[in-house]
Amino acid sequence: MCGIVGYIGTKKASPILINGLIRLEYRGYDSAGISTIEKEELSIMKDKGRVKNLYHLKGIDDLTGTIGIAHTRWATHGKPSKENSHPHMDNSKTFSVVHNGIIENYNELRNFLTDNGYIFYSQTDTEVIPNLVHYYYEKDEKTDNLRFLRAVKNACSDLKGSFAIEIICKDYPDNMIVTRKDSPLVIGKGENENYISSDIPAILSFTRNFYLLNDFELVVLSRNNVVFYDKDLNPIEKDTKTIEWNASSAEKDGYEDFMLKEIYEQPTAIRETIGAKFNEETKCEFDELNFTKEYLSSLNKIYIVACGTAMYAGLAGKNAIEKLCKIPTEVDVASEFRYRDPLVDDKTLCIFISQSGETADTIAALKLCKEKGAKTLAISNVIGSSITREADYSIYTHAGPEIAVASTKAYTSQVILITILSIYFAEILDIECEKVSLLKRDILQLPKKIEETLKLSEVIEEFSKKVYQEKDIFFLGRGIDEAVAKEASLKLKEISYIHSESYPAGELKHGPIALIENDITVISIMTDNTLVEKTISNIQEVITRGAKTLVITNQNVDEDMFDRIIKIPETNPFVSPILSIIPLQLFSYYISKEKGLDVDKPRNLAKSVTVE
Ligand code: G6P
Repeated sequence: MCGIVGYIGTKKASPILINGLIRLEYRGYDSAGISTIEKEELSIMKDKGRVKNLYHLKGIDDLTGTIGIAHTRWATHGKPSKENSHPHMDNSKTFSVVHNGIIENYNELRNFLTDNGYIFYSQTDTEVIPNLVHYYYEKDEKTDNLRFLRAVKNACSDLKGSFAIEIICKDYPDNMIVTRKDSPLVIGKGENENYISSDIPAILSFTRNFYLLNDFELVVLSRNNVVFYDKDLNPIEKDTKTIEWNASSAEKDGYEDFMLKEIYEQPTAIRETIGAKFNEETKCEFDELNFTKEYLSSLNKIYIVACGTAMYAGLAGKNAIEKLCKIPTEVDVASEFRYRDPLVDDKTLCIFISQSGETADTIAALKLCKEKGAKTLAISNVIGSSITREADYSIYTHAGPEIAVASTKAYTSQVILITILSIYFAEILDIECEKVSLLKRDILQLPKKIEETLKLSEVIEEFSKKVYQEKDIFFLGRGIDEAVAKEASLKLKEISYIHSESYPAGELKHGPIALIENDITVISIMTDNTLVEKTISNIQEVITRGAKTLVITNQNVDEDMFDRIIKIPETNPFVSPILSIIPLQLFSYYISKEKGLDVDKPRNLAKSVTVE
């Protein structure tokens, strides 16, 4: 939530900053602003609403500064308005700050600063930061070149909560200072220029070499140098990491929206995540993992913890781990898990799934499990993301950058990766079963079957056009199909704003059937041949009550029974969510388009939820 960008170099900073903000807009779009140093003075230009509003601000084209910071906001403290927009300055206009996160003790700090004569102009928690930096700056009697850094360090020691902060100071026009705690921030290294961003894709067109920052580390950037300090201001050394993603992977490449592009990237994302080494003949291996039979046999339980779509991918993981490895597996949402004193000990393996690797609740849940003595394994799409640096082990989906707020290719990549992980466990445990070898064969065939499934796009678009004005849509499924129903329902809500519910098909008669009335749309997913008959009976129950039915299936069923049937390729039940979700991703997409909504940036949502 909230995106921050920074630039220090030899070029005009403002276009680079605005370009970066546009790419980070999926993190929040309540307001945007930039601050540069212009002729030894700080300048701030900001406004409510989308980043593009900045282009219309008077004087924006006259900015010539080559150092600057920028912010796109997802409002937490203070309503979306110009005065609450970042950057914020201190009262003396010496420091300018952008911040992503929440300062939990801002009230206390605000009172302290008010008592010391400071005045506040916004309702944000952020405004305490530049003033606190100024407070320590003024108190410092030394005027050496570390005075700015000491002031930032002292101010940050007083902050509670989460933060990724960029600060510039008019007295130090050749330096920018950045730091972080629990909020993402990366540093891109260029030639005579350096970049800051909340995530890698936003600055991928400028550099592929990145420094990753740990909590509380402070960084002083100049045009030619990046100097790192620990929280006590001892200098530390860091190497850059080269990121393999290419710049075009963060562009729309001719597609109307990122979401559509990302839906169509799924064959590649799955192929890349399966990896070249996976085959039917040899045992599965992960370079990053070294689990033993003894350890896996000692486990009392596996927990899979995540938020949103990643949590629904976890349900597919539970299905595979329990059925293949016979290890009890529970799936939980991170925001609940962490507050319910979960039964975790050194005999529990805790798996955390997060596309961004920056979701605050998921990271907090991971820290809790570590404290309780469990081993932790992160599944993320972003190399070096916070979660992967906290976990004992990390493995990666290779979906490439996912920009649209609604997750598509990350979900299917997570499902495939956790399924392969369960095969890896089963093979270590010497579970000899035909199921495993059949599953391996079917996994290798998936990319082609995804391509086939994507060809259904036109039929789905046509169906979407018929139902886009509905107020409520229901999704039903049994077994693993119920997990897909949940993800499909979330997708629809997120981007079409249609109320939708997902239910285990057999549970319908225990309440929700009361909501079924004439012409309501009910979408059922049916891919498990052992459950088809039962699910059909449940669909009959809604047909009897007047529902319009759409069925997504790979089974041979009497097509006349339903209003619409979408046949997807047959595959192994463990990986069927990867195929059955695709028509439903497209369904949500086309409904959203038909309603004229912003598919990539749905209202009130943000892609990376770095607040709790
Ligand atoms: C937000 C996004 C979802 C995503 C969830 C978890 O709610 O809108 O698309 O599934 O966060 O994100 P993560 O990065 O942890 O997978």
